[in-house]
Amino acid sequence: MINLGVLASGKGTNLQAIINACENREIDARVVAVISDNKDAYALEIAKQHNIPSYYVNKAIFSYKLCYEEEIVKRLNKNKVNLIVLAGYMKIVEDTLLSSYENKIMNIHPSLLPCFPGKNAIEQAYNSGVKITGVTIHFVDKGVDTGPIILQSPVPILENDSLESLTERVHQEEHKLYKKAIQLFIEGRLKIDKGKVRILEEK
Ligand code: GRF
Repeated sequence: MINLGVLASGKGTNLQAIINACENREIDARVVAVISDNKDAYALEIAKQHNIPSYYVNKAIFSYKLCYEEEIVKRLNKNKVNLIVLAGYMKIVEDTLLSSYENKIMNIHPSLLPCFPGKNAIEQAYNSGVKITGVTIHFVDKGVDTGPIILQSPVPILENDSLESLTERVHQEEHKLYKKAIQLFIEGRLKIDKGKVRILEEK
């Protein structure tokens, strides 16, 4: 059983999917802390509904990003977090978090990286004319959506898709894929080798 710390800035549908997977024992983990930089994030409300310690950390009161992240690390450590899961966390992760949780921070991105990094990835894909987009789970490094890729899953863009219908299918795929990546981590099956993630055979 490992302890997950989830960082989220928004709605928290991925957080909800992860909590469900923990509660249904699809993954051997529990969410022990939810942290948000947005006091109105519904993710904080979801955490409260599940009696999970939740924290709003207001970046505006810290003069340096490092201090802001120190505050986050303090809360993660207090709750003995083993893996940080970013679920719609809208800040770039910097040195303090990266060095405290080296190769222990995952992110989900709603495209097949390296295509369409950054904001509005689903919309970028929808407007570009590509026929397939998808979801990527990756380890976090200093860049924006650039770390070693753990899992990817395609989502076709259909002729009659609206941005809303495509968004809905991408989110459904996200909710399935994150728990798989987390379980692989728990089983010690993710090995980073020269910037690539190798998935080891089941023991
Ligand atoms: C997801 O699309 C995720 O890929 C992106 O932010 C969104 C968060 O959605 N990083 P939610 O808050 O989990 O509903």
